[in-house]
Amino acid sequence: MGQLEITLQVNGESMKLDVKPAETLLETLRDRLDLTGAKEGCGLGACGSCTVLLNGVPTRSCIVLTAELDGAEVTTIEGLGDETRLDPLQESFMEKGAVQCGFCTPGMILTARSLLNRNAQPTRQEIIRTMSSNLCRCTGYKKIVEAVEAVSSRETPKP
Ligand code: FES
Ligand code: FES
Repeated sequence: MGQLEITLQVNGESMKLDVKPAETLLETLRDRLDLTGAKEGCGLGACGSCTVLLNGVPTRSCIVLTAELDGAEVTTIEGLGDETRLDPLQESFMEKGAVQCGFCTPGMILTARSLLNRNAQPTRQEIIRTMSSNLCRCTGYKKIVEAVEAVSSRETPKP
């Protein structure tokens, strides 16, 4: 089957892509666009290491077909922060020692960013519940939760 042309906005940049019908978003990001922050762990939608924001919602890019995303907005870890500053969550993960091997970290941070965008001051339980949907085999989650809490205590709730 031939390629399909779609338009995608990735990290604020609009682009036209010719994609294969069975190409996953994770393959598009890593193999076509060289955005390798999203990681392939299980490849089955279970671990969360491939998480990106799709129209602002944390999404497992290994189980989404790019061909179905015409007009969508995608944010990867490379799109957080700006040229002069990391996102506060990226800084907090480093400050709190919430990064060990780092394989889960991009997905963790994007999941946390989405939570704080929806609710700038979640309870500890809400943070634990949200972050536990992404698997981390190294940290035991305590430092991850602390890193998210530290940022939430500084962010201002949106009206
Ligand atoms: S690699 Fe996508 S959920 Fe595990
Ligand atoms: S830091 Fe290694 S899997 Fe989370």
